[in-house]
Amino acid sequence: MVISKLLVTGGCGFIGSHFIEHTLASHPETEVTCLDSLTYAAHPDTALRLSELAPQRYKFVRLDITSGEIGALFAANQFNAVVNFAAETHVDRSILDPSSFVRTNVLGTQNLLNAARENGNVRFVHVSTDEVYGTLGPEEPLSVESSGLSPNSPYAASKASADLMALAAERTFKQPVLITRCTNNYGPGQFPEKLLPLVIANALEDKPIPIYGDGKQVRDWIYVLDHAIGIDTVLRHGKSGEIYNISSHEERHNIDLVKSVLRLLGKPESLITYVGDRPAHDRRYALNADKIQTELGWEPSFTFEQGLKRTIDWYVNNQPWWKKARDKEYFDFYRSNYEMKFAPLEGPTA
Ligand code: TYD
Repeated sequence: MVISKLLVTGGCGFIGSHFIEHTLASHPETEVTCLDSLTYAAHPDTALRLSELAPQRYKFVRLDITSGEIGALFAANQFNAVVNFAAETHVDRSILDPSSFVRTNVLGTQNLLNAARENGNVRFVHVSTDEVYGTLGPEEPLSVESSGLSPNSPYAASKASADLMALAAERTFKQPVLITRCTNNYGPGQFPEKLLPLVIANALEDKPIPIYGDGKQVRDWIYVLDHAIGIDTVLRHGKSGEIYNISSHEERHNIDLVKSVLRLLGKPESLITYVGDRPAHDRRYALNADKIQTELGWEPSFTFEQGLKRTIDWYVNNQPWWKKARDKEYFDFYRSNYEMKFAPLEGPTA
């Protein structure tokens, strides 16, 4: 399908910004409107960089996806596709404030679905997560698209709820809705509250690295550009009403991943600090991505080692970016929720 006018929500966030960059570079026929409410997770430098890539094909709108103005935005712009990245995404934050996750992830998605339906049945790609399937045992088979939903954190439950509303819109109103579910992303420009950027940034500053529980949890890692290309493939070639898992099949124990980062940075393992576990901490996520590979021909192009090297280089070479990201807001959050981390972290004084 030719995508001429594309709305990308949450486009100033980590994955959304990589997706926009890929779209502007690869599809000269596509005009992008980036909608973002610019919460803590949208770095101002990322927003600025996007605006400079292809100014004649890029517009920015500051708006929350729950806003009553979303319908008017659709009416005025005649989008022919939407990709919904806008979401609260950090599990630890969802434990502290579940309501904000319901508001943005569930009500916000529903608000977008309504607007898409009422303004020409706009093609709608909803970006979701492997966390909706819940936890896997060490030997259990990879989750497939038809696996049951069994979310454990408020974050995962909010994403599963949004997925169900998106599928209901497709069944009930015949809206062209597609869902992608991806594994843990990593790469340049990820907010340093997530494991990998947090480990890199703390290691570079010789700060303790908090490992929740025994560190034997398993995550399946994908380089963010591979994910962006997967979503782009689904947007243009996927079938309405379908769910597509996206994975690079790179499962790692948290502790092994942290040790690899320390080794690559030449930092000592003594920085590792075991702390109390996250409540309801899922042991393992891992996806089967055969469907997107066989039906749409998508394949990842980065191995974990290649992606990790690129990512570490980026954080080493862009220290002002992540230092800015994690100054007062970051430390206010962790200071005021000290019990969650169980370990003292140093930071700027308020
Ligand atoms: P995270 O990046 O928060 O992603 P998710 O919870 O969505 O998978 O965490 C990845 C894994 O790393 C998860 O098992 C929790 C763990 N973790 C730590 O051990 N220490 C930390 O400081 C963080 C942020 C995460």
